[in-house]
Amino acid sequence: MKAFPRLAVRQTRILIIGDIMLDRYWFGEVERISPEAPVPVVHVARREDRLGGAANVARNARALGAQVMLAGIIGKDEAGQAVQGLLEADGIEHALIQDVDFPTIVKMRVLARQQQMMRVDFEQKPTQACVSRLTQQLLDQIDKADVLVLSDYAKGVLGQVEALIAHARKREIPVLVDPKGLDYERYEGSSLITPNRAELQQIVGLWQSEAELEEKAQLLRQRLNLEGLLVTRSEQGMTLYTDRQRAHEDAQAQEVFDVSGAGDTVLATLAVMRATGASWEQAMQWANRAGGIVVGKLGTSTVTAEEME
Ligand SMILES: Nc1ncnc2c1ncn2[C@@H]1O[C@H](COP(=O)(O)OP(=O)(O)OP(=O)(O)O)[C@@H](O)[C@H]1O
Ligand SMILES: [Mg+2]
Repeated sequence: MKAFPRLAVRQTRILIIGDIMLDRYWFGEVERISPEAPVPVVHVARREDRLGGAANVARNARALGAQVMLAGIIGKDEAGQAVQGLLEADGIEHALIQDVDFPTIVKMRVLARQQQMMRVDFEQKPTQACVSRLTQQLLDQIDKADVLVLSDYAKGVLGQVEALIAHARKREIPVLVDPKGLDYERYEGSSLITPNRAELQQIVGLWQSEAELEEKAQLLRQRLNLEGLLVTRSEQGMTLYTDRQRAHEDAQAQEVFDVSGAGDTVLATLAVMRATGASWEQAMQWANRAGGIVVGKLGTSTVTAEEME
């Protein structure tokens, strides 16, 4: 495999649009049971916030060295400020809509003695008006990007994804989509989608053999008019279907510590490599390498240019 094209990566401009989340962790000690109810009392000693969802894809593209613009919707609240602060600290540009009626999506975990005791989610769908405003505002941004990435966590920000895809397509800008939900017709005409096994199965049903998977994947790819369909298959690596061929990469991980977020790393790497002019097959090789590295790390869910070398 060739050397990681660090300088070329630095020239790339990636626009990421999607559902932005804040992953919030409260770590503490438990020493007693509450007098109010039979539940433990956690005395919080440390807090940590991390960018999640589409913002984690942005972090990953940035860690590889790309110039990154993130777009999405946050609230006019403390969590929204935390998101902006983290983006700025990472050098990620942003075009965010701040909506007073929308709470920033937060996934909060309370942990004690290395154990998660509870997760609390704050989320609500953005209004149609807000999504329209974002979509309209982004058409100009798309023109400036080398690659458009749509990170769909089915929270509503990509409610008008068809308009974004159509615009990018008109400008001949590649569009990569991490899909969610049951309606993939929305992604028609994008360049490449990256479902994982479970997501693909929801759309095409179970497969009994590699040949059956190929047939189902190719049918879906043709129906949606995609250049490529890349299935991420966890410990089985990843498989790419294009009109030329089926290409497969076995998983590379030496040791697996933390698989969450590997999908975001894969998506970001594909986007960045494609933006340097790599073929989908080459981009997949780099993405598989990045996936293998990230699952071996605890705590961080990004891979840097140095690590790729
Ligand atoms: N258990 C594992 N062993 C080795 N490699 C793995 C493992 N899990 C993930 N990977 C690597 O990461 C890539 C993406 O993982 P996966 O298919 O689980 O995506 P995903 O389900 O979208 O992940 P997530 O949504 O949790 O971020 C895989 O294609 C592979 O390269
Ligand atoms: Mg995923």
